[in-house]
Amino acid sequence: MASSGLFHVVDTRQFDRPMLDRLCRLATHVRVLAKTKAGAQGLQALAPDRRAMLYFTQPSTRTFLSFNSACHILGMQTSEIRSPSISSEVKGETFEDSIRTFSSYADVIIMRTPEGGKAARAAELMDSIPRPVPVINAGSGPDQHPTQALLDIYTLERSFERRGGIDGKTIAMMGDLRRGRTVRSLSYLMKNYSQVRLRFVAPPGYEIRRDILDHLEVHGVAYQSTSRLEDVIGELDALYVTRLQSEYDDSDQPGKADYAAYSIGPEQLKNFPADAIVMHPLPRGPELDPAIDNDPRVMYWRQERNGMWMRVALLAAIFELDGSLNVN
Ligand code: NCD
Repeated sequence: MASSGLFHVVDTRQFDRPMLDRLCRLATHVRVLAKTKAGAQGLQALAPDRRAMLYFTQPSTRTFLSFNSACHILGMQTSEIRSPSISSEVKGETFEDSIRTFSSYADVIIMRTPEGGKAARAAELMDSIPRPVPVINAGSGPDQHPTQALLDIYTLERSFERRGGIDGKTIAMMGDLRRGRTVRSLSYLMKNYSQVRLRFVAPPGYEIRRDILDHLEVHGVAYQSTSRLEDVIGELDALYVTRLQSEYDDSDQPGKADYAAYSIGPEQLKNFPADAIVMHPLPRGPELDPAIDNDPRVMYWRQERNGMWMRVALLAAIFELDGSLNVN
C-alpha cells in the first residue's frame, strides 16, 4: 500500500494475513455470486463507472484474459496495449509519460513488462501526480508476479479447506527458481502462515536467489534446498512445478541443466501422497506431463479459474466495493 493511501499492488511483501484472508473471502463470495444470473448482474452493476488500462508489453495468455474477464465481471470498461511497438514509446515517449497518459483515461493501470522494477516505477510516479490511479503489477520481468501469488494462495487455501488451510503444510517449489517470478512472489507470502515448511528443488545453477532466502530467515520460515525431488516428494502437501524461463537466457544464462529430472508425470506421482496437490502457474513445458491432467491431485486448471476470481476480489478491494458486496 502506498504512503498516499493509494492501493497499488507491486510486490507481495505488502500483504498481511488479514488482507490475504479478506481477499480469499471476497474471491469465494464473488465466485458463488457469479453462478446465478441475478448474482452476475449484481456484480456487473458494481463498477460500470470504472475503466481499466491493460498495458502488457510481455506475452501473456492467462493473466491478460483473467484480468480482462475480472474487469468485465465487475462491469468495468477496458482498454489495452499489448505491444510497445504500437504505443508512442516508439516515437521516443518516455515510460513515465506513457504511464501518466494511461492514468488520464483509466482508473487503474494493470501492467506486465519484460523488465523488472517497472510496476514499482509506475506506482512511484502515481504517488507524485495530482490525479493518481492504482497500479497493479501483472508480472515484472524475472522479479515479481504478485497476483499469481494471490491466486496460488487462494488455490492452496481452498485445497486444504478441510485440513486447516495453509498453516502447517509442507510445500515444495521446483524448477527454474532463480528466474521464476511466481515462486519469488509466493515465497514472500509464506511468512503470513504458521509452521509452513518450504522445500526448494532446483537444478544446480537455477537455485532460488539469496534475497528470498534472507527474507524467509528474517521471518522465521523453515526451508530446505535440494537438487533431488525424490528427497522430499513423500513428505509434501503441495508441489509447485515451474518451467525453464528460457526467455531470460540472454541476460541471465545460468548454464545448461538436466531439466528432465525436474518434471512430474505418472512415475513421480506414484510416490506423491494421496492428499497432496500439484500446482503449476502455466504455460507448461515438458516438465508437466499431460498424462497426469485428470489426476484428482492436479490443481493447475483450477488455478486458472481461481485467478479470475482472485483478480475480481483484488479490484473489488482496490475500489472498496466490499460494502456493496456485503462481505466483511
Ligand atoms: C507465469 C509468468 O508469466 O510468470 N505465467 C502466468 O502468468 N500464469 C509463469 C511462466 O510464464 O512460467
